[in-house]
Amino acid sequence: MAQAVILIGFMGSGKTAAGRELARLLDWDFIDADEVVVERMGISIPEAFSTRGEGYFRGVEEEEVLDLLTGADRAEGGLVLSLGGGAVTSKRVRELLKQQRLVVLLDTDIDTAFERAGGGSRPLARERSAFRELYQERSYLYRQAARFSVDTGNKDPKAVASEIAAIVRETINE
Ligand code: S3P
Repeated sequence: MAQAVILIGFMGSGKTAAGRELARLLDWDFIDADEVVVERMGISIPEAFSTRGEGYFRGVEEEEVLDLLTGADRAEGGLVLSLGGGAVTSKRVRELLKQQRLVVLLDTDIDTAFERAGGGSRPLARERSAFRELYQERSYLYRQAARFSVDTGNKDPKAVASEIAAIVRETINE
């Protein structure tokens, strides 16, 4: 049976860094959905938001994430798939996530998330109060979609990855 672990969570929760580390620990492949979306758009995320609008980005993101989730079940070997923070706003993505055994929420407090993600190139992490509002709005969606949750607040990616690896090993040996 194909094995996949899907990492979800808000911007700045450390999905990409922990995901890479996790893939290394498990000797599985790693895919960052944002990278796939950028490749498909042919422009960066900030450029897509400013020249084509968030709706365009969300449309491409939804299509690519649906493809990745469908492919995850067919992949040979294991796959660690890290989703962009807004992927769970798509109902179709949430429906497909329900079929996955290993959906792990990387949970971080708002201040740590903003310290990590704020002020950089992410279009939705430029302003603290808007970032906070989005965090509150999304929180329910993450909790609803996740089967497991790991607190990443003051941990480095290696520590987070080894916690997730323990969950993965336990779950696939069930
Ligand atoms: C977004 C999160 C980003 C990226 C885009 C929008 C969001 O990914 O997809 O900037 O809406 O939460 P990360 O969660 O990997 O930062």
